[in-house]
Amino acid sequence: MNKPATELHTLDAHGAIAAFRADFPALKNYTYMDVAARGVPSATTRAALYAHMDDRTNSGGDKDRMFATIERARERFADLVNAHADEVTYTKNISEGLNMVATGLGLKAGDNVVVCPDLEHPNNVYCWLNLQRQGVEVRLVKAGENGAMPVDDLIARMDARTRCLSASTVSFAPGFRTDVDKLGKACRERGVCFLVDAAQSAGIMHTDVVASNIDALTTSAQKGLLADYGMGFLYVRREWAQNMQPAYLARFGVDLGDAHEAALGDLSFKFAAGARRFDLGNYNFGVAAMVDASLKQLLDLGTRRIEAHVCTLSHALVKGFYDLGIPVAGGAPGPHLAGIVTVGAMSSNHYGTGDERFNKLYQYLGENNVKLSIRRGMLRFSLHAYNNLEDVGRVVDLSKKFLGANAR
Ligand SMILES: Cc1ncc(COP(=O)(O)O)c(C=O)c1O
Repeated sequence: MNKPATELHTLDAHGAIAAFRADFPALKNYTYMDVAARGVPSATTRAALYAHMDDRTNSGGDKDRMFATIERARERFADLVNAHADEVTYTKNISEGLNMVATGLGLKAGDNVVVCPDLEHPNNVYCWLNLQRQGVEVRLVKAGENGAMPVDDLIARMDARTRCLSASTVSFAPGFRTDVDKLGKACRERGVCFLVDAAQSAGIMHTDVVASNIDALTTSAQKGLLADYGMGFLYVRREWAQNMQPAYLARFGVDLGDAHEAALGDLSFKFAAGARRFDLGNYNFGVAAMVDASLKQLLDLGTRRIEAHVCTLSHALVKGFYDLGIPVAGGAPGPHLAGIVTVGAMSSNHYGTGDERFNKLYQYLGENNVKLSIRRGMLRFSLHAYNNLEDVGRVVDLSKKFLGANAR
């Protein structure tokens, strides 16, 4: 299935993607298709962490430089999603971002939120169930049979007491795209906060919070942003953030102008502008240094180019499986695809598939240095800009060989 060089050339006209790929040490040893679990950092990103650690180890570290990194990474993340820096705050992970919104909206008994638990990660479900003890109604919408986000049903469940609709931009399994533009428009018309879990799209799919009418978006640093665990970002549109009350408050969430980080201002404090009010105390400076470097690499490559490249690969992978008769979720390649390809039947099992043949295929691919995951009973292959058509061809060829040797 390897494509001729001319076709690869058309895909990557200026060699930018090939140059990007060359910066990822893991790809020398692995066919890495597991960004949906965690991406691999580049050598440039590792160097940024080492530089931070050298500074800490040799001199204790330069706090002004660390803060400058925090602000630069905040701006870069804002650029990535077409937001402003003061609409971006730091989190530990996605669940913290979701909980910051859930608790910051000031929901009252009788208000409701709308979500589709069948397709969401548990972290985008428990944050809402936890509000039930305050009398908030959680409207649970069932997924459609095909595994697509039930956009029309979600919209239909909103009413005058709906305050938030929360959905992933791309589900972690089966990995289809959500029509965020349609949800965003419906929420904006009704004055409902549209919150997205962008775990499976940030850094991979082009994202424009303005064009898509997204009010809040959260993601973590170790997946498509290609850095590491323990840090994430939350974007909250200014108009919402200005009226939100953070559940936790600390120094960096308070507006004290240029005062020292240890300054205690007037006790009748004022929240920091926009989403900065959710900033707490000190930051994860090491991962911030990494994500600052990886965001620069992603922005230099361009999110439209990344999305086009990744979708070319996911379509090629689906076609390759399809031609082999392997059951791909969603069937033939189509607009439902983002960077995730899943194989087999959906279930609630994350430790294996319901089909022994696919469990063995998973094992066989692993033995041949292909990295992938099993989620919801399916083999999950997930792609980023560092993948190429040779990776796709290799996985399809290995699968073909496996099927030949394990015919039913
Ligand atoms: C859609 C989605 N949301 C959330 C998470 C994880 O949340 P957290 O960063 O809080 O661990 C994942 C992880 O796989 C995910 O795929």
